[in-house]
Amino acid sequence: MEVRVYFIPTEVPEEELRGRTAVVIDVLRASTSIITAVAHGARGVIPADTLESATEMVTRLGMDDVLLCAERDMHRVDGCDLGNSPAEYTPDVVGGRLLVLSTTNGTRAVSRAGGAARILIGAYVNAARIVEELSDQETAVLICAGNSGGFALEDAACAGFILQRLAHTTGREMIPVNDGAWVALQLGRRTPRNPLRMLRRSAHGQKLDEAGFASDLQLCAAVDSLPVIPRVRDRIITGESLDPAG
Ligand code: MLT
Repeated sequence: MEVRVYFIPTEVPEEELRGRTAVVIDVLRASTSIITAVAHGARGVIPADTLESATEMVTRLGMDDVLLCAERDMHRVDGCDLGNSPAEYTPDVVGGRLLVLSTTNGTRAVSRAGGAARILIGAYVNAARIVEELSDQETAVLICAGNSGGFALEDAACAGFILQRLAHTTGREMIPVNDGAWVALQLGRRTPRNPLRMLRRSAHGQKLDEAGFASDLQLCAAVDSLPVIPRVRDRIITGESLDPAG
């Protein structure tokens, strides 16, 4: 199976996406929050690149069950219903609701994957489901959200973790087509089954800890805790349980 991994979303060549499945990974924390929202019954999550577009979208939708969710510099933006902590996305808060979400890096990475045939949201919490979904593909593209335009250890390590599991469970050879995939596979061999220590040591993990979000790291490190596979369709992220035909 041919695999490509990009550590920075802006490096993904458009032509690499056409006709392929892309997995967007932002372990800390946008992917984990989106997966949590969908697992806890949100009707859908609409990713927005900017705060302005998120606010406009909520106004345009004008429905009672829409929540405006936005994070900047790790914290909930003033006036929003939710920030980007997966702990906020509980069933009683998000169940049955439509969420419009804008985060610093993660939701932009989702937009960047727009040209792919299928776009899935991945993290440690749904790694088993991502592996299952990719197992019959000929080729896959993993897009790491990174951090403010740079490399993020946690996303690269999660990409490697998924690829190693894919190789292990399917018995298929992972053929790294680009340098990113080669590096991710090496990292995947070294990452322990419990990634919490690695998350705590990562630059963004340390910043989250200092900002008072230490417990989020545990939620983000909970491998296979949420067996859902959010996918983007018509610019809305939903779980497959909402669309059994899909
Ligand atoms: C992002 O999208 O940049 C992150 O999820 C930041 C965060 O930890 O909230």
